[in-house]
Amino acid sequence: MSDKRRFASKAVHSGTQHIEGAVNTPIFQSSTYKLTDERYAGWAAGAQHTLLYARLSSVNSEACVEKICALEDAEDGELFASGMAAISTTLMGLLSQGDHIVASADVYGGTYGLMTEELPRFGISTTMADMQDPSSYEAAIQENTKILYIETITNPVIKICDIEAMAEIAKRHNLLLIIDNTFASPWGCQPISMGADLVIHSTTKYLGGHSDIIGGAVVGRADLISQMFIKKVHFGGSPDPHNCYLLERGMRTLAIRMPVHCSNAATIAKRLEAHDLVELVHHPTLASHPDYEVASRMIPKGTGMLAFTVKGGDEAALKFMRALNIIFEATSLGGVESLVECPFNSSHMFVPEEVRIAAGLGAGFVRMSLGIEDVEDLWDDISQALESSN
Ligand SMILES: Cc1ncc(COP(=O)(O)O)c(C=O)c1O
Repeated sequence: MSDKRRFASKAVHSGTQHIEGAVNTPIFQSSTYKLTDERYAGWAAGAQHTLLYARLSSVNSEACVEKICALEDAEDGELFASGMAAISTTLMGLLSQGDHIVASADVYGGTYGLMTEELPRFGISTTMADMQDPSSYEAAIQENTKILYIETITNPVIKICDIEAMAEIAKRHNLLLIIDNTFASPWGCQPISMGADLVIHSTTKYLGGHSDIIGGAVVGRADLISQMFIKKVHFGGSPDPHNCYLLERGMRTLAIRMPVHCSNAATIAKRLEAHDLVELVHHPTLASHPDYEVASRMIPKGTGMLAFTVKGGDEAALKFMRALNIIFEATSLGGVESLVECPFNSSHMFVPEEVRIAAGLGAGFVRMSLGIEDVEDLWDDISQALESSN
């Protein structure tokens, strides 16, 4: 699916179906499609991308797949009902009993749970290495390793992975490199151009962009995607047409939303670093960030995600969050509205304190997803809430 247009034009136009001259892809709220000779032929040929039944594909899912493939420069893709459906179908679909993955304990908590609690029940094991150190991934490779699994940007400490170095290792050992690119979005990073075989998104986040859908996508090598299609049909985690319609609408503005998310986060990060009531700020545009150099190659335009430590520990962090007026206390990220959470009482609630601290989540740690509000309103809100925290 090669599309030579520039990113913003692809975000608006690629994949959009102008049925009956409609400017937008209409919502095809139909579970099944009339069987024609052409569709029977598509069915006989494997059914991928043939409009037969909405668990396989729909007009709206096809439009989204084409757009995401254009944005990620991917050969083909499949859409799912959630990011976790995309991840679980990918791993369960491509691996068999006895296979092994190298991943990192920093992966998204749901992915970590899948790798440590579910996959071992089917004889698929995972060794956790350090995403910041590609040589630790190489050292963890075994004879039965099939996949190196990474995230472009980790949550919540905002570590940046050197995708090119990981791709070189994967190629040398004949392994698949699978990258969750949710935090960067294709505007921020295009891992396929750096050697990834498959790219996964929780479309719930930046691609949807409005905190109104749950969805997922996998794009990449066509031979792998056609295997994944069968697994999606068997496991059944497909999105409904209305969900796809909202995703497509969200993606059309990706290229204008992302620069604002990123510049708001960079501005707030710089100001927080100079603030008396803040101890440590994690944002890759700051020279103090340990992955500053890697980030300048992997995500040169930055990220809308930010983390920092409020002086005074978790109690002060809670007071800070509850004093915010514009920024909403909620889990998730990547929407037009800014969201904030403390990992200790949300995403990492069940992680023992010593493990949290070892992972860099000391007392007072706050994670923020910067939206596209006016940055001065965000700063006014953050400054007054910091004053209330002590
Ligand atoms: C990096 C990352 N990957 C995957 C997921 C799972 O996505 P979903 O919630 O859409 O299932 C999340 C959810 O927060 C995430 O942050």
